Amino acid sequence: MSIGFSKRHVISMRDFSRDEIDYILAEAERLEPYAHHGKTSDVLDGKILANLFFEPSTRTRLSFETAMKRLGGEVLNVSSTEGSSMAKGETLADTVRVISGYCDVIVLRHPKDGAARMAANCSDVSVINAGDGTGHHPTQTLLDLYAIRKEASLDGLSIALVGDLKYGRTVHSLAYALTLYGAKIYLVSPEELRMPDSIKKDLNDLGACLEETSNINDVIGGVSVLYMTRIQKERFMDPVEYDKVAGSYRITADMLKDAGDDMVIMHPLPRVDEIAPDVDETKHAVYFRQSFYGVPVRMAVLSLLIGSEQ
Ligand code: NCD
Repeated sequence: MSIGFSKRHVISMRDFSRDEIDYILAEAERLEPYAHHGKTSDVLDGKILANLFFEPSTRTRLSFETAMKRLGGEVLNVSSTEGSSMAKGETLADTVRVISGYCDVIVLRHPKDGAARMAANCSDVSVINAGDGTGHHPTQTLLDLYAIRKEASLDGLSIALVGDLKYGRTVHSLAYALTLYGAKIYLVSPEELRMPDSIKKDLNDLGACLEETSNINDVIGGVSVLYMTRIQKERFMDPVEYDKVAGSYRITADMLKDAGDDMVIMHPLPRVDEIAPDVDETKHAVYFRQSFYGVPVRMAVLSLLIGSEQ
C-alpha cells in the first residue's frame, strides 16, 4: 500500500487519518535499523533539508538533522532571527519563499500559532511544523505514538496528559491523534492550565473520551501511560501567574507504588522539575528512549515526503 505523502505539508495531526498515521509508524519501524549506528541508506542522497528554528530546540532540530543525514541527505540550519535577514525586517513569508528555492523540505519552529500553515502557503516545497507557538507539534505526536506502540499499546489505551495543557503544543497534537485510536484520556492540570475549550470541543465532536482532574494521584493507579509535560514558562505574559503554577506536579519514585507494573512514563522533554531523577531508574521511565524514536519517525516522514521512490 502506498498513501500519497509526496510534497505534502505536515502542519497538524488533524491533517492525518488513522490509516495514514499507521502507515508512517510502519515506515518508521522499517527504517529504525538505519537510525542506529551501522546500517546506512542513501534514499535521500542529493536532497536538502532546511531547519528554520526561531525558538530554542535540542531534540527536534538535531533529530531532524540526524534523520536526514542517516538517509544520505544534507541539512541547512537557521537557528535564530538574529542570524538571518529577519533581523533586517524581512517577513517570515519572504524568508520561506526564498529558502524554499534552496532546499527540498523546510522544518519550521516559530513562536506564533499558525506560522507553519502560513509558511506552507508561501513555500514551493513541503513544510513540516516543528512547533508553532502554543499550536501544534505533529512530528512529536508521531514519535509519541511510536513510543506508545513500542513501550505499551495503542489498543485500549488509557493515558493521562499531565501539566500545562493550556500552552503545551505537544499535548494539543497528541490529544487529537489519541482520539483517532479511541483512547481514554485523562486531562490532569491546575485549573489555570486546563486544555482550551476550543480544543476540548473539537475533541468531543470527534468522539473523544475525556475526563478532567487536578489531582495526579487520582490517575496514577489506573492508566497505562502517564504523559508528563513542562509548564511552558515562556508563554506566560505575567511571571506572577507562572509562579502560581510552577512546580504543580512532580512525580517521584515513591508516588509510583500504586502504578500498574506495565505503566510507562513519557515526557516530550526537556523536563524541568516535573519528574524527579529517582524516577529515571524505575522500569516506568521511557522518556529517553522516546526521544530516540524521533530519529526513525522523522526518517519515515522525510522519506515519505521527499524520497524519490514516492
Ligand atoms: C516540546 C516543545 O518544543 O513543544 N519539546 C520538544 O519538541 N521535544 C516540549 C517543551 O518544550 O516543553
